[in-house]
Amino acid sequence: MADSRILNQEVVADLRASDSELDSLIVWLDEQTPRPGLENLGERLSDLSIDVGELRSKIASNQNEYCRNILARTDAYELIAILWTPGQDTPIHDHRGSDCAFVILDGLSTETIYELDQSGRALPVSRRIYQPGEVCAADEPDIHRISNDTDSELLNLHVYTPPLGGFRMYDAAE
Ligand SMILES: [Fe+2]
Repeated sequence: MADSRILNQEVVADLRASDSELDSLIVWLDEQTPRPGLENLGERLSDLSIDVGELRSKIASNQNEYCRNILARTDAYELIAILWTPGQDTPIHDHRGSDCAFVILDGLSTETIYELDQSGRALPVSRRIYQPGEVCAADEPDIHRISNDTDSELLNLHVYTPPLGGFRMYDAAE
């Protein structure tokens, strides 16, 4: 479903040394106690100018499933660079106890929002395409799916607070 990798901490240290924006984001995240609120997080992510080329050169993709590259994880948050090759998508899911916010770094990110019908299956109710620099934020109960519907890679930088413990998946009603 997804390939999850914890980035080597030396690689993360190199990235932080060469990209002060990424470094200051992690410093800021470490300072938020007990954890960043979703609104603050959204604002913080929208102000970022990450060195996308440098980050991309240090993270993995997977041709079979989208790839989660975990940059940092504490009890309060996790920071993950997620890469989708063309046509890849997440399952339809919620966030079970975690807020989620992400900024689009490269490519176009499609978010489809769902509501449950009476039999508990997910009906799509809206869809939005996010451009690089735009931030998408989801409260715990929101049900959505992220997809790369383009012919190019999609790279997003996600923060989950607290770290995603597990999430529920849903069957599409379509
Ligand atoms: Fe999500």
